[in-house]
Amino acid sequence: MQATTDVLELDKTAQDLLFREARTANAFSAEPVSDDQVAAIYDLVKYAPTSMNVQPLRIVLVRTPEARERLVRHMSEGNKAKTSTAPLSVILAYDPEFHEHLPTQFPHFAGAQAAFKDQPRRFETAKFNALLQVGYFILGVRAAGLAAGPMTGFDAEGVDKEFFAGSDLKSLVVVNVGRPGENAWFPRNPRLEFDQVVQTV
Ligand SMILES: Cc1cc2nc3c(=O)[nH]c(=O)nc-3n(C[C@H](O)[C@H](O)[C@H](O)COP(=O)(O)O)c2cc1C
Repeated sequence: MQATTDVLELDKTAQDLLFREARTANAFSAEPVSDDQVAAIYDLVKYAPTSMNVQPLRIVLVRTPEARERLVRHMSEGNKAKTSTAPLSVILAYDPEFHEHLPTQFPHFAGAQAAFKDQPRRFETAKFNALLQVGYFILGVRAAGLAAGPMTGFDAEGVDKEFFAGSDLKSLVVVNVGRPGENAWFPRNPRLEFDQVVQTV
């Protein structure tokens, strides 16, 4: 970080770590990912913004071999091997009951919790903002010097029954986390260029 009083910008090495050089890992080394590392990741991710500070993301660390097996059962074929062997798999889910926290998390607006009484609006807000937080989580993993392998190739209904029976949580993305192993990368695909994406009006 170039820390002057008026110019704050990530240096190129940090930009590379988060974006240019960062890749999606498909194989991992055996090096464990500790709870302290996950706590450090969350301590970054929690500061990234959500609408009305709703913070609907919930994170399940799938650690025991038995729990991992229960998760792998619901992964699509191509995602099973890497999810079995990653040092850590994480289920990222949304909590549609996020509004219960608004009196403490958005205290200057007394009507915040009541504003989400309506169920469709609450679920939509929860999903939208949790997906934003999924993106922040991937960058948080990279910021911690680890690699992420996000996956939506799984039976979400099956995972919800398996892990969230009796709760309202809904799974969105499973992310494998760790240091890259051998043959971790698929070929890097191109990215759309500025002119293909950006218009000025
Ligand atoms: C939300 C999300 C879901 C993904 N689902 C899968 C998946 O189910 N299986 C898989 O092998 N890769 C999956 N990917 C990996 C993407 O294909 C990969 O991140 C993208 O092609 C960029 O690869 P790169 O980071 O190596 O350039 C997913 C990525 C994201 C962000």
